[in-house]
Amino acid sequence: MPETARLLAATVDTGRDRARGGYSRPVFSAAERELLEWYLAELRARGLEGTTDRNGVVWAWWNPAGLPLEGAVVTGSHLDSVPGGGAFDGPLGVVSALRALDLLRERGVDPARPLGLAVFPEEEGSRFGVACLGSRLLTGAVTPGRALALTDPDGNTFADVARGAGLDPAGFGRDDEALARIGCFVELHVEQGRGLVDLGAPVAVATSVIGHGRWRFTVRGEGNHAGTTLLADRRDPLLVAALVVAAARDVAAANPGTRATVGRLDPVPGGTNVIASRVDLWLDVRHPEDVVTAAVVAEVSRRAARLAAAEGCAVEVREESLSPTVDFDGALSRRLSGVLPTAPLLATGAGHDAGVLAGRVPTAMLFTRNPTGVSHAPGEFCTDEDAEAGSVALADVLADLLTGPPPG
Ligand code: GLV
Ligand code: MN
Ligand code: MN
Repeated sequence: MPETARLLAATVDTGRDRARGGYSRPVFSAAERELLEWYLAELRARGLEGTTDRNGVVWAWWNPAGLPLEGAVVTGSHLDSVPGGGAFDGPLGVVSALRALDLLRERGVDPARPLGLAVFPEEEGSRFGVACLGSRLLTGAVTPGRALALTDPDGNTFADVARGAGLDPAGFGRDDEALARIGCFVELHVEQGRGLVDLGAPVAVATSVIGHGRWRFTVRGEGNHAGTTLLADRRDPLLVAALVVAAARDVAAANPGTRATVGRLDPVPGGTNVIASRVDLWLDVRHPEDVVTAAVVAEVSRRAARLAAAEGCAVEVREESLSPTVDFDGALSRRLSGVLPTAPLLATGAGHDAGVLAGRVPTAMLFTRNPTGVSHAPGEFCTDEDAEAGSVALADVLADLLTGPPPG
């Protein structure tokens, strides 16, 4: 079995979700922490020590010459998952970073600058609602005040959960010293669509992350009895929510290239024989042009207001996160392409910490083929051979960045 697959095999029993299928590793959950412990042990086995910074980012440094860390080459990804997600979204990048380090050492690479390995918390935003929370805190893209007040579905604040994980809430916030250590960041990630399958290649160099955001719609009506309340007397927020889901598809279809999704909907109190009093639903909208994303959200919001009024309900819309379209650093990406001349260029509709870091440091990404084209679901896959090819490509790129001219 190739080495990357052997490392991945050690991760596949952590966080399995028997009810949903796939994996559920919310940030700071027992499953995510267990995977992190495994990762820290793998670092120790390589003579490296993982340390957690004040924003919950875990760093390790390969720095055989004891050089200053400023301007290092950094790679890594995340270990949290969406609910019922696949085995590769996040862990493939973390494991490939370990394997790439092993390859660099086997090849006798003598780095002119340190190599950093990073693991970011809450990339998915599946526990506290804001994707890439760790990299947003690190770069100042979210204020600590807002982050600390975020709550998970059980009502726990990020502040309390982070404290429980051993972090000091007072320490969260933009960290210019940590950013100065990142001369460039290269994240490897499993591809999350059919791009590489259709191109017939195992590895791609990323061009861009399309803009995306999340909006929470809260519809309020009147809780009541399912058997005694005549249809004419109802103010049913779940009916409104259902029509908003359909409206989102409609508006997306009228704006080519838009992806609009409602993947989560929460009726309160949620009884079979109860007309809900309130429903929260989360709309995820993505488009390469940020003005189109804004227009789609505005139109869905207008329709939601009309649909709510017709049912005697009220609706409130709040933006939970917004990431504009990001084009990765041209010079760095060209350098990756120079090292990997047969790797195609590929944009992605998925969000990544690399997309957030790109606002502050030169950033690039590699994608490894996913033969099913499925992601955020148990069908996500990567063959052993492609996983190894991804690690080798990452090692090739890192070798160049560590030994050639300083990146950025
Ligand atoms: C994360 O993978 C996202 O694209 O939402
Ligand atoms: Mn990911
Ligand atoms: Mn993901």
